[in-house]
Amino acid sequence: QNYIVSVDQLTNGDVLDFIRSAQAFKHGQTVQLARPCFAMNFFFENSTRTHTSFEMAERRLGMQVIPFDPKTSSVTKGESLLDTLKTVQAIGVDLAVIRHPRDRYYQPLTTSDLTLSLINAGDGSGQHPSQSLLDMLTIYEEFGHFDGLKVAIIGDLAHSRVARSNMMLLNQLGAQVFFSGPEEWTHAEFDQYGTYQPLDTLVSEMDVLMFLRVQHERLTQANNEAFDAATYHQQYGLTKARAAKMPANAIIMHPAPVNRGVEIASDLVEAPQSRIFQQMANGVYVRMAMIAKLLAQRDLLTITKTEAST
Ligand code: CP
Repeated sequence: QNYIVSVDQLTNGDVLDFIRSAQAFKHGQTVQLARPCFAMNFFFENSTRTHTSFEMAERRLGMQVIPFDPKTSSVTKGESLLDTLKTVQAIGVDLAVIRHPRDRYYQPLTTSDLTLSLINAGDGSGQHPSQSLLDMLTIYEEFGHFDGLKVAIIGDLAHSRVARSNMMLLNQLGAQVFFSGPEEWTHAEFDQYGTYQPLDTLVSEMDVLMFLRVQHERLTQANNEAFDAATYHQQYGLTKARAAKMPANAIIMHPAPVNRGVEIASDLVEAPQSRIFQQMANGVYVRMAMIAKLLAQRDLLTITKTEAST
């Protein structure tokens, strides 16, 4: 496959391979490109972390990055995403990284005759495979395994592609997954991956507390008008009182951006148990691993210096 669009493509072996590859890049592994290779990042939704770390990963692998601005592209004239990709492929682009507000926007692309490599950087409330893999790397670095780990995913589950990807991968990897947050923001389909429990039951039991951003851009106007940040924080957020009940070796995660004082008390974002900035740093290495795999299978990239030889 010339694409990584959803975690349901990934076996446990694939996840561990990505973790090992990302760790190798972290420890100095280098690569050689067979020829000049070109990447384009198509972000039709805003992003800081994912966009920047994909571009960092592409540049660190030696790729050249061609800018794309959806506001000035011919998408504004009605050109489809598939025709846009066929165009840039014809011009010589090797890798397209795409974020789009529409769930499963990638379906017509993965069933087309496109030959360029494709990575989903987030589709609506669907999937966010690179975020999920960087979260798996962060958890693996901390605990060295997934089997039996207790992980709670807390907050705006219904609108979160991070939650969806992570519950699927964590469950597949043998972790025990729990959910918490507003009950109206859960889905019956999540029951196959984990169990809903009140937050105050979970905080003293979990190895990982993973909080989710409240996605105001995906809430109805009525829900946004009814939302009260202080009330949400007291009911569903990591307050200092709740953090004090966490086991000493438990960690705090959040895909970010964080609504400080809403999902997590502001001071706790930088607390010793927080891995939020480590998640961001790991994103570069995981994205290098994802791109390297796609380019290597097209004989466009080889490993030149392994971790062991550094
Ligand atoms: N976590 C994440 O996807 O952040 P950005 O929206 O800033 O890319």
